[in-house]
Amino acid sequence: MNENKYYIETYGCQMNVYDSELVASLLKKTGYSETKQIESADVIFLNTCAIREKAEETVHNRLDSLHFLKKKNPNLLLGVLGCMAKNLKDGILESRPYVDVVLGPDSYRKLPDILNDRKSSNHFVDTRLSKFEVYDDMFPSRAEGINAWISIMRGCDKFCTFCIVPFTRGRERSRSIDGIIKEAEHSVKQGFVEVTLLGQNVNSYRTPEGSFADLLSEISKIKGLKRIRYTSPHPRDMTDDVLKVMRDNSNICNYIHLPLQSGSDRILKRMNRTYNRSEFLALCDKIRTFMPDCSLSTDIIVGFPGETESEFEDTLDIVRQVEFNSSFMFKYSSRPGTKASQYSDQIPENIKQYRLEKLISLQKKVTHNVNSRLIGKDLQVIVEKESKKSKKQWAGRTDGNTWVIFDKMNFKLKDTVTLRINDAQGITLFGDPIVS
Ligand code: 5AD
Ligand code: SF4
Repeated sequence: MNENKYYIETYGCQMNVYDSELVASLLKKTGYSETKQIESADVIFLNTCAIREKAEETVHNRLDSLHFLKKKNPNLLLGVLGCMAKNLKDGILESRPYVDVVLGPDSYRKLPDILNDRKSSNHFVDTRLSKFEVYDDMFPSRAEGINAWISIMRGCDKFCTFCIVPFTRGRERSRSIDGIIKEAEHSVKQGFVEVTLLGQNVNSYRTPEGSFADLLSEISKIKGLKRIRYTSPHPRDMTDDVLKVMRDNSNICNYIHLPLQSGSDRILKRMNRTYNRSEFLALCDKIRTFMPDCSLSTDIIVGFPGETESEFEDTLDIVRQVEFNSSFMFKYSSRPGTKASQYSDQIPENIKQYRLEKLISLQKKVTHNVNSRLIGKDLQVIVEKESKKSKKQWAGRTDGNTWVIFDKMNFKLKDTVTLRINDAQGITLFGDPIVS
């Protein structure tokens, strides 16, 4: 008898990557095995993202292009998972009735029952959000690699006015320290040397057993774990305790992804970010007092409703001052149901595009400056993959999350290598291994 096969396609953030791994583990327990060939799958799931309009469009187009597989094989089960599920629920079954299953991010435990009962021709839809579901007892099924993503909390209570996440992923809830430690230990046993703790707001993590700082401190004690990262914290919730634990434990990377969003006080207020420009700058200074070499990256939105040219300049100014190592930069995308989508002063597309290009070109210069200062320094990387440009070279990341290319010599994947940095090009560094 042929074994049933599943195929999962993941869109969006690392949280979705993690959720797809959870879904994969549930499917395996139900007797399915993975296929990388979509044509041979008995079930296909798209794990979706709703953060910007473009992400949603991509999924709609993908569903349209998958319709032919469904026509060829009426027994194929096609499902939409994740953040778009809630928004899609009403529209999708009318516009794309060939979609069989729509499941929100808190409903994945339903999958085994749905699959065992898949002969029924009814659609299955569950997009309810839970106040409690954290999948604490489940280990995801991970592809091999260096880094294991570990979700530590789900949902978000911040309600930034541009953001759909509080509506698609629901209220904030934290997983037990015990469950997280078990999962991290398990991933080390499987051969992972790095973990990245994930959540929409990792540093508002709290359980009766402890805070985010306590969790970091516990994780850092795990033997064999070379590196610990986390993403994303909220500037408002960054405590001195977290910075102290980072400073005092060498296996917690000196790297923080700290989403700024805007450098203008008026826009930050309209975004409901709950900090202002000077508080953000003071926080960056404080981080560098605790950890002088700490790398910083950020998220920035341009063209938020009402953003004037001079308010956009305030954002450029903060990028110059802080000198982020890198930035994820986005044009504001109006999300139905959010507060900002109702603001009447939406910014025209051409202005958003122009601001985005200007910001990207500034960030490129800043990255190059910051990276150039590393030339001549000795930095450690973990060997992660082959360089895209040469089979004779490895690529590895520094503690600060910057890629470095270097000759393979006798190094193996996952080795820690010290490199003397000799060049900086684009966003990449180049180095010579220091062999003692
Ligand atoms: N438009 C553009 N960017 C957005 N982000 C979140 N919502 C929107 C939106 N409506 C960005 C923010 C966030 C990152 C994950 O995505 O910068 O930090
Ligand atoms: Fe969205 Fe703001 Fe929550 Fe981040 S903190 S997920 S941007 S609402």
